[in-house]
Amino acid sequence: MDIHSYCPEKVLHPETAVTKIKNGSRVFVGTGCGEPQKLIHAMVQERSIQDIVCYQMLSYTFSDYVNDKSFLNRFSLKLFFISQRMRQAAFEGKIDYVPAYLSQIPELFHSQKIGLDVALIQVSPPDRFGYCSLGISVDITLAGMMNAGMIIAQLNPSMPRTWGDSFIHIKDIDYLVEHEEPLCEAIPTSKNVDIVERIAGYVNQLVNDGATLQVGFGHLPDSILPYLDRKKDLGLHTQVITNGFLPLLQKGVITNKKKSLLPGRIVCSLCMGSTELYDYLDNNPLFYFRSSEFVNDPNQIARNDNLISLSSALEVDLTGQICTDSKGYLFYSGIGDQVDFIRGSKLSNGGFSIIALPSTAQNGEVSRIVPHLSEGAGVATTRGDVDIVVTEYGIAELHGKGIYQRVMELTQIAHPKFREELINEAKKRHYIFADQLPPTKQDLIFLEKYKYYLQLPEDKTVEFRPLLPSDEFASRNFFYSLQDTTVYYRFFQRRKIFSRNMLQEQWALVDYKRNMSIIGQMQKGQRKEIVAIGSYAESEEQEGYAEVAFVVREDFQDKGIGSYLLSILESIARENGYKGFIATVLNENTKMIHVFQKRYPNARIKMSGGGDVEIHMAFGEESAA
Ligand SMILES: CC(C)(COP(=O)(O)OP(=O)(O)OC[C@H]1O[C@@H](n2cnc3c(N)ncnc32)[C@H](O)[C@@H]1OP(=O)(O)O)[C@@H](O)C(=O)NCCC(=O)NCCS
Repeated sequence: MDIHSYCPEKVLHPETAVTKIKNGSRVFVGTGCGEPQKLIHAMVQERSIQDIVCYQMLSYTFSDYVNDKSFLNRFSLKLFFISQRMRQAAFEGKIDYVPAYLSQIPELFHSQKIGLDVALIQVSPPDRFGYCSLGISVDITLAGMMNAGMIIAQLNPSMPRTWGDSFIHIKDIDYLVEHEEPLCEAIPTSKNVDIVERIAGYVNQLVNDGATLQVGFGHLPDSILPYLDRKKDLGLHTQVITNGFLPLLQKGVITNKKKSLLPGRIVCSLCMGSTELYDYLDNNPLFYFRSSEFVNDPNQIARNDNLISLSSALEVDLTGQICTDSKGYLFYSGIGDQVDFIRGSKLSNGGFSIIALPSTAQNGEVSRIVPHLSEGAGVATTRGDVDIVVTEYGIAELHGKGIYQRVMELTQIAHPKFREELINEAKKRHYIFADQLPPTKQDLIFLEKYKYYLQLPEDKTVEFRPLLPSDEFASRNFFYSLQDTTVYYRFFQRRKIFSRNMLQEQWALVDYKRNMSIIGQMQKGQRKEIVAIGSYAESEEQEGYAEVAFVVREDFQDKGIGSYLLSILESIARENGYKGFIATVLNENTKMIHVFQKRYPNARIKMSGGGDVEIHMAFGEESAA
C-alpha cells in the first residue's frame, strides 16, 4: 500500500512528528532492538519538548543521552528491565526501575495503572492491505501501543515482518515516519568458555528430547544453547529469541513437533540478536509472536507438557532465594520472565526449571552461592519457587527439600574453595547440625565419566553414578526399604537404624579413588529412587586390594544389577591402581558368592570358621567391561 496516496496527511518527517508530543506526556517506547531509534533521537533533540516520562522495557538509544544533565531535566525514564547499556545510569540513579512480572506489564497499561499519552513504535512498511508488523517486538509493545492516546510509528524496511499477533493497520496509526536504518543488535559474548561448557554439560543431562524450552535473558542461558545440539525434537515457548537458537534451528534440533500447545510453531514475544537472526525471522511462519500477557502467562506456559525453563541469577542463598535484578542496592537487570516461567514450568506436566549460574564472580574472588543475599539485594524467585540450580560443579535439586538438604546440595555445587566457609556459615545460622561434615573440596567433574546405564528386560533403565553428599536422604530411604535378611547379608547384623551420623560418615569417607560408592537409581515419577549401592574401600590388610560390598533392593535382584555394579567398580578400581577385590560374605549367601565366582572363576575362597568366607579376586590381565 502506498501511504503517500492512502493517507498523505499522516506521513511526516521525524522532526515534525515529534512536535505532536505535548509537554508532560507519558510516552511508551518500543522494546529493545525493536525500538524506533530515529524517533527517539528526534524527540530528544527537539528542545521544546519538556517534562516527558518514558516507559520502556529494554532501552538502547537513550543511553546516548543519560549522562547529559539537560536531558535528565527534560526526560524521566522508567524501565521495566535494565539493559547493559543503561546499567551505569541505573547505579547512579539517573533512571527509575519498575519491578514487574513481564506477564503483568500489559495489564498495567490496559488498566491505566500506567497511563500512556503517546506510543513511539517501529514497524515494517505496510503490506498491500495496509498492515504493518511490529516485527521483533510484540512483547509489551502491543499493549503499550493499544493503550496510548496517540501512536507515532517509524516505518523501517529493516524491520522483519513477523507472524502472529504482530499487526497494526495504517488507519490505527496517527503519524507515520519513513526512515530506514539497521535495527539495534544484541550479540552475546561468552565470557568463560570452560565454565559455559561445564554448565552446559549438566543442563544437557536434564533436558530430554522432545522438551519445550524457555530460555531467559542473559549471556549464560544463550551460550548454553549451542551445546544442546544433540537433542531431538525440541520445542520453544519463550519470551525472547536470541542468536543462541540459530544453530539449533539450522541443525533441525528445534522441530516443535512434540509441543502440546501450538505444535510446529515457536511461540515467542521478542527477538534480540543479529541481523542474520532478524533475516531468519522475516516472513517466517515458524515464529508465532504474541504479547507477553499470553507468552508469559503461567497458565499458557503450563499448557506445554515438559516445559523446561532455563534462566540465570546473580546470587543464590543457601536457602534457595534467587536474586536476579540487583547487585546489593544497585539495580542491575529486571524481574523479567523468570518467575512467570518458573511458575508455569511447575504447572506443566513433566515441566521443571533450571537456574544456571557460574559458581563465582569477580574472577573467582567471590562465591555466588552465599549464606545470605548481599545487603539490599532483592529476591526475584522465592525459596518456594526455586527448583533446580546448576553451576559448573553440578546440579542441586531444591524443590520440596528442607533447608538442611538445600544447604548440602548448594554447598556441593559451590566452588570448592568456598565450601567449608559456607558450611560454617550455615552452622552459625542453625541451618544444619553442628556436627555436619562438609562436602569434599574436590572438583568432581571427573565423576562425569562414571555414569552408566543398564537396560532391564521390562523396558526400565537403571542409572548408575557415584554417591554424593546430597544422596543422604535417598540412601536412608533405600536402607529402610530393605528387608531384614538383605540388611543382615550386607552388614552381618540385624541393623534397624540408619542414622544421619552413620550415613554422613559413609558419604564423607567416599573420596572417589580409595573409597568409592556407586548408586543405581530408577526414575519414579518425577524423582529418582536408589535401588542398589556397590562400594569399595582400600584394604588395610592387603596392599593393592580393595574391600567390596553390594546391596540390591529385593525387587531388583536377579536382574543383573549386582554383576553390573561389580564390573563398574572393577573398572574404576583398576583406574586407581588396584589389582583386585576382597569380600567377606556369609557362608549361606550363595547368590553373592555366585556373582563373584562368575566374574572371577579363579577367586580364592577362605573359610573363616565364623560363619563367613573371605573371597580374594585378582582382576587378571584383560580390561574390565
Ligand atoms: C548379592 C546381591 C548384591 C546380588 O545382586 P543381584 O543384582 O541380585 O545380582 P545379579 O542379578 O547380577 O546376579 C545374581 C546371580 O545369582 C544367581 N542366583 C540367584 N539366587 C541364587 C542362589 N540362591 N544361589 C546361587 N546363585 C543364585 C542368579 O541366577 C544370578 O546368576 P546369573 O547372572 O549367572 O544368572 C543381591 O542379591 C543383594 O543385595 N543381596 C543382599 C545383600 C548382600 O548379600 N550383599 C553382599 C555383601 S558383600
